Amino acid sequence: MSGSARLLEKWARAPRAVTLLLSLVLPVMAPAEPPAGASSCSGCHAVSARVETPIPRILGRQPTDIVAAMQAFRSGERPSTVMGRIAKGFSDDEIRVIAIWLAAQPAEAR
Ligand code: HEC
Repeated sequence: MSGSARLLEKWARAPRAVTLLLSLVLPVMAPAEPPAGASSCSGCHAVSARVETPIPRILGRQPTDIVAAMQAFRSGERPSTVMGRIAKGFSDDEIRVIAIWLAAQPAEAR
């Protein structure tokens, strides 16, 4: 094989290699890192739509609903088993950031 043929072959392979690399890197980079405290929620609130759970789903919901629920749990206005205690650990700002992040997560599949 001549040198230029080998070079051509390299070029032909390059896009596939680039695509493969992007397909590996993008899914890791695209979803923003969960804000502080948000990854703990999935310990109880299922991330997968296929999991049967009595605990209400919180992914893909309106951020205002999540904020209202967290504030009501925190004040005791809304009765709860565990959420009152959990909500007391978060400031309004932290709750807002978590609610926005949760809303941006896909609720289906996985
Ligand atoms: C220890 C398990 C547990 C963890 C961790 C947890 N939750 Fe909950 N969550 C519950 C349970 C159980 C309920 C039902 C209310 C209750 O009994 O406390 C609930 C209810 C909720 C609701 C009300 C949803 C609705 O549709 O009524 C919201 C909003 C919520 N949780 C948000 C969060 C957020 C945000 C986090 C993370 C910061 C979190 N939860 C972490 C167990 C948990």
